[in-house]
Amino acid sequence: MRVIHTIADLRQALAAFDRPAFVPTMGNLHDGHLSLVRHARTLGDVTVVSIFVNRLQFLPHEDFDTYPRTLQADCARLAEVGCDLVFAPAEEELYPEPQTFKVQPAPALADMLEGHFRPGFFTGVCTVVMKLFQCVFAQAKGERHAVFGKKDYQQLMVIRHMVRQFALPVTIHGLETARAPDGLALSSRNSYLSPEERAEAPQLAQALRLLAADVLGGEHNLAALERRAMQALAARGWQPDYLTVRRRDDLQPPAPHEIQPGRLVALGAARLGRTRLIDNWEF
Ligand code: PAJ
Repeated sequence: MRVIHTIADLRQALAAFDRPAFVPTMGNLHDGHLSLVRHARTLGDVTVVSIFVNRLQFLPHEDFDTYPRTLQADCARLAEVGCDLVFAPAEEELYPEPQTFKVQPAPALADMLEGHFRPGFFTGVCTVVMKLFQCVFAQAKGERHAVFGKKDYQQLMVIRHMVRQFALPVTIHGLETARAPDGLALSSRNSYLSPEERAEAPQLAQALRLLAADVLGGEHNLAALERRAMQALAARGWQPDYLTVRRRDDLQPPAPHEIQPGRLVALGAARLGRTRLIDNWEF
């Protein structure tokens, strides 16, 4: 496995391959990231993982400065699962000048849910993913594959729309969320949790499963169910941003006739102490 820090070196290393399979990350890798890398290995003839904490997708008050940066440990884990190339550019390499051109998703996709609570987030994500795709895929002669997690459900949807609307020659793969045995979705931000908060944290997934069960059980007043779910979490000491039931494909609220198994997803975001967690549950 090679660890590469510049775009020029990455392009040179990739020249020998036809079909890159790419997993973009911000590092501090856990088993969820590694499951994406294992899947990527089955898709192409070279597996590339990027590690880059992307300033563009953080708001000024968010955790850009404290986001865990663990490159050595990450590389050790990536070598174990058979990654070929790690692309870990410095900020000046990817953004040598202010990034004045950006990829801006339509408000209908990007201003709801995560985008509502993190304005500009998806513009930051799309801009860096477009740029990373250029770095990894520009000279590929064959298929191009990129792997994302369903953990960030709206991000996956936004990336799929971007690829479709720009006709990018990249196949996007969405993989299931890896969870701890108690149901908590694995996340780099879980490391911020105190032991007490860690014990409480699976309640977000639990609340989403309950919400789904209530809907499948025939309660179709979604607004009332969502309010009740948020109140229940708040009563346990959480500060919920949203818990909501949406259509899987565009994350819009379902019409009554669309409330059927197999088409919906419950999505949630809530703060526990200073840590903001997100999760979702398809049903
Ligand atoms: P990051 O949070 O590091 O996540 C990298 C990829 O891992 C994303 O596709 C995310 O959905 C996936 N992932 C995270 N936790 C997971 C879990 N428990 N199970 C399965 N997959 C999981 O998402 C980002 O970085 C950034 O926004 C990025 C796309 C790299 C752009 O900067």
